[in-house]
Amino acid sequence: AVTRTFSIIKPDATRRNLTGAVTKMLEEAGLRVVASKRIRMTREQAEGFYAVHKERPFFGELVEFMTSGPVVVQVLEGVDAVKRNRDVMGATNPADAAEGTIRKTHAESIEANTVHGSDSEENAKIEIDFFFDEDEIVG
Ligand code: CMP
Repeated sequence: AVTRTFSIIKPDATRRNLTGAVTKMLEEAGLRVVASKRIRMTREQAEGFYAVHKERPFFGELVEFMTSGPVVVQVLEGVDAVKRNRDVMGATNPADAAEGTIRKTHAESIEANTVHGSDSEENAKIEIDFFFDEDEIVG
């Protein structure tokens, strides 16, 4: 089925001017960008978005990193979008990511790992709603 997922092009990628290169890899994986905006995440947004990681030792650094520069938040559409996106992203830690994935190709570290993608359809909906109004999504 055609479904949606949520993606973030992270500050390490915008800093290196890789928005287009990353988006091209998403598109070549069969995903369509149906909403996109470049924002500077506020601390409140980053803390809210990553609330599930609040007790993790890396939470503070993660919030610092995600607010350190512009990000591009996107809604992606495609057949089995969540899985398709996770496959093209590769493992969270670029050292473990497969050849040809976005993180293997571009990520700098487990933290500066170039992209975020929803891990389930349920979370995709929550994450899309966190950053987008329905009228900003044009399929
Ligand atoms: P993301 O998919 O955006 O969700 C949580 C993020 O925490 C993850 O990608 C990583 O970029 C970041 N992170 C930083 N350190 C770690 C770690 N030790 N283990 C897992 N995630 C980490």
